[in-house]
Amino acid sequence: MQYSNTILLTLAIILPACVYHQVSYEQDISPILAKNCNGCHMAPNGYGYRKIGLKMDSYDSIIQGTIYGPIIVAGDSRRSMLNKLVEGRVGNRQCNSRGDKKGISKEDIEVLRIWVDQGALNN
Ligand code: HEC
Repeated sequence: MQYSNTILLTLAIILPACVYHQVSYEQDISPILAKNCNGCHMAPNGYGYRKIGLKMDSYDSIIQGTIYGPIIVAGDSRRSMLNKLVEGRVGNRQCNSRGDKKGISKEDIEVLRIWVDQGALNN
């Protein structure tokens, strides 16, 4: 009896951690950016690229950020401009929409958050 309680307790601790598996730049992040962001953040003509030099079509370019500096604080989505913007924490800015009314989904916003909190890895 004692053993099975220990096993159940262990599972209860481990399982929630598995729900948020390791997010992958290649498989998860790159498609989200392509779908929601590259329309405006593509060189040379995208509006967001022309205004602040931000493109997000490669890992290096998103890490580099804008002409004013980085948009990601690896490991800290609370302080990352990327996450602040898509989560609507810096007011009503253009980046929450793709130019249509739908905008980025809650799931995609969450995946971006986890990726940054996991260190914004090139994985
Ligand atoms: C409809 C066009 C448009 C779309 C779509 C768009 N952006 Fe932007 N973005 C801009 C423009 C224009 C700027 C520069 C002016 C400004 O900050 O509003 C910008 C600026 C930014 C900045 C810099 C903000 C700052 O103050 O440093 C970040 C970060 C950003 N975008 C991220 C994203 C992300 C992530 C997506 C996709 C979820 C996205 N954008 C989609 C147009 C867009």
